[in-house]
Order: sequence, then C-alpha cells, then structure tokens
Amino acid sequence: MKVLVIGAGNMGLTYAEGMANSPLLTKHKLRIFDTDPKKIETLKQQSQFHVYDTLDDCLPKSDLVFIAVKPYHSADLFKIMTPMLNDDQIFVSLMAGVTIETIQQQLGKSKVVRTMPNLPAQVGKGVTSYTASKSVSRVELLMVRNLLDTTGTSIHVNTEKFIDASTGISGSGPAYVFYFMQSMLDAALKMGFSAYDSKVLVSNTFEGAIELFNQNDMSPKSWIEKVASKGGTTQAAIDSMDDNNVKQLIQDAAYAAFDRAVELGKK
Ligand SMILES: NC(=O)c1ccc[n+]([C@@H]2O[C@H](COP(=O)([O-])OP(=O)(O)OC[C@H]3O[C@@H](n4cnc5c(N)ncnc54)[C@H](OP(=O)(O)O)[C@@H]3O)[C@@H](O)[C@H]2O)c1
Repeated sequence: MKVLVIGAGNMGLTYAEGMANSPLLTKHKLRIFDTDPKKIETLKQQSQFHVYDTLDDCLPKSDLVFIAVKPYHSADLFKIMTPMLNDDQIFVSLMAGVTIETIQQQLGKSKVVRTMPNLPAQVGKGVTSYTASKSVSRVELLMVRNLLDTTGTSIHVNTEKFIDASTGISGSGPAYVFYFMQSMLDAALKMGFSAYDSKVLVSNTFEGAIELFNQNDMSPKSWIEKVASKGGTTQAAIDSMDDNNVKQLIQDAAYAAFDRAVELGKK
C-alpha cells in the first residue's frame, strides 16, 4: 500500500510521522508532497519520507492520498490532481469544512473519507472523527482507520453533520482546555505563586483529573459531587461557576464552533 500525504504543514506532517513510525508502513512507502521549496529541502535532508516536489512522480501510483492543505488551496490543487487519478484511489481529507460531495465533484472520483483531526495528534494523543462516501468498502475504511489511529484514536461517525459537530468538541476543543488552563494560571499568578509553581500546579491538576476520569466510569459530575463537600472550598468554587452560568457558556462556545464549521462548509 502506497500512501501519499499532500501538504507538509502542521497536520500533514503530524499524520505522516504517525504513519511512518507505525509498523503499518515502512518509511520507504510513505510519500509526501508540498509546494513550498524550503519545506521540501528540509524534509529531504531529514530523509524520513520519500519527498516529492511534483505530483506527477508520486500521485498516479499512490493508493491512499491524504489531503492536508488549507481549504482555500483545495480547488487549485484538485485541478492539478484530476488528470493523474484512477478509480481505485482513496482520498482522505483532513480539511475543515470541505464536504465529501465537493471533493467528489472537483476530483471526479468517488472514494472519499472526510476527517476532523485535532491538535494532540502531534503527541500521539489525537482523536480523529471520520466518515466516508458509500463507495469506500468496509475493508478500505478499516485500513484508513488503522492509519488514523497511528496518531491516537479515532471514531467513525455516520454523517458529515457529526464531522462538523466534532469540530465543536474535539477539533476546536483543545483551545477550550487551554482557555481554562490559562484562567487558572492567571489566578495562581494573582495569588502570588511564581510562574514555574503556577505551571506545575495547573498542569498536574489537569493531568491528575484526567487520569482519575479515565480510571473508571464515573462522570465528571459524580467526581465533582465526590470532592465538593457542602459548605467547603470546592463547593464555593462550583457555586461561583454555576452562578455565572459557566456550564452554559462553554456549551454555547462549542455550538459556536459547530455552527461556524457548517457555515464554512457552505462557502
Ligand atoms: N491545525 C489544526 O489544528 C487543524 C485542526 C483540524 C483540521 N485542520 C485542517 O488541516 C489542514 C491543514 O492545516 P495545517 O494547519 O496543517 O496547514 P499548514 O500548516 O498551512 O499546512 C499546509 C501545507 O500545504 C502546503 N500547500 C499549499 N498548497 C499546496 C498544494 N497545492 N500542494 C501541496 N501543498 C500545498 C502549504 O504550503 P504554504 O505554506 O506554502 O502554503 C503548507 O506547507 C487544513 O485544511 C485544516 O482545515 C487543521
């Protein structure tokens, strides 16, 4: 199986590295293409992948093609790709907001998988939602899933609506967590902790809470009830958040990202 990644940016490289380092592919099989001469040169020096500066040499003989360019570059890219394609190739899009139908129409090919990746893929802890056109077989989809899983874990969703919804939860989600972290860091600094101590306090609090959460089936709500005793310190903080409607505001933020993903898909 020959895999090509088009676009050696943040996401393209993350997935390329995940796949190349997994036992599923050897580095000799992973191909990468970008239009930026500087990037091409750097990648060639690293010799981690087969690096290409023209599609003619790599696209026609690739079985699986990951598309990781910015959505606004896709129409021009697809025009160049079209004459080099065959009907067996599978196209896996990492692009936000570009629909399966658009990709099928512009490439003139039917086998398309659309994904919503997220940033922690860079450290092997990503979560990728994916859905596919009907012409992608179960076996082909399993193959794609195995490749996506090299950067963390993945979930199959039945419709593209859930790809847009994933944008609101996991795609944009790391930024919500960073927002919460920054707020706690700012509070720690305001209380007089040093920058180093604030970072240790906040980062270990997040890491510890996640580990507890993953240890069993208890919901976050149950954990709050377990740790917040009536009239105590934690309850004072939770009451303050409830009084300020923080839960609703976070849900509104997730929906704002979801709505924006739908809107971008229509453009
Ligand atoms: N970053 C995220 O957290 C995230 C999350 C979810 C989804 N995504 C999606 O992932 C995709 C890639 O995002 P990114 O952040 O990785 O972008 P990026 O860092 O800008 O990488 C895109 C790369 O593709 C290159 N490129 C542009 N046109 C090309 C063409 N015709 N052929 C080959 N390469 C081309 C770009 O070169 P130039 O720099 O010279 O233009 C750049 O090296 C986007 O569609 C985005 O919606 C990203």
